[in-house]
Amino acid sequence: MTQDEMKQKVAEAALSYVVEGSIVGVGTGSTANMFIDALAGMKDKIKATVASSEVTAERLRGHGVPVLDLNEALTQVDSLSVYIDGADEFDAGKNLTKGGGGALTREKIVAAASDKFVCIVDESKKVDALGAFPLPVEVIPMACELVISVSKNLGGNPVLREGFTTDNGNIIIDVHGLNITDARGLEDHLNSVPGVVTNGIFSHQGADIILMGTPVGVETIV
Ligand code: A5P
Repeated sequence: MTQDEMKQKVAEAALSYVVEGSIVGVGTGSTANMFIDALAGMKDKIKATVASSEVTAERLRGHGVPVLDLNEALTQVDSLSVYIDGADEFDAGKNLTKGGGGALTREKIVAAASDKFVCIVDESKKVDALGAFPLPVEVIPMACELVISVSKNLGGNPVLREGFTTDNGNIIIDVHGLNITDARGLEDHLNSVPGVVTNGIFSHQGADIILMGTPVGVETIV
């Protein structure tokens, strides 16, 4: 089975976590795109979606799936029923790194507004320790050099993502070379730096359930 076939399988498996009649949070990335395409087949069974990026909103609307702004959604319901999204890495504690596509902040916000986070990945995303994938940090442009300096002090090799602006109008610094042994501690530490909007460690907003595609089928990690 190819990597794309494994992604397709988990995207389809995630449909069983979609709560009928509810508002569903939808992630960003190639695996989330496959989920969006599958969700289109049951668009009449859900109330609406909240998208974690402009690109996801556009894809949902292209399928005729209703998309609400999060604030609008939360005037109708207390929380979204489920958030479904991919990840760049996950560890045994279901901590994640995300943001390869640069949508980490909105992804974290929609995850926080949801009752449950179902993460859809192929088996290549499983790691012993997070950090082999460069850790994205969304930063207000004025704080660029400050965050670069802090990242170097942490032993990382920060690289500005050239020519990229987030949906929120900010920059991304990808921090290479981190061996993340304390995901929660590093998430908190980086987020405490003035000018950091958020970083791509999802420990506070880690997955509740991981659907992992393998060559022999979908494994559910709870
Ligand atoms: C988007 O900003 C990311 O957080 C994605 O969820 C992550 O990069 C996984 O993407 P793929 O499904 O394309 O691997």
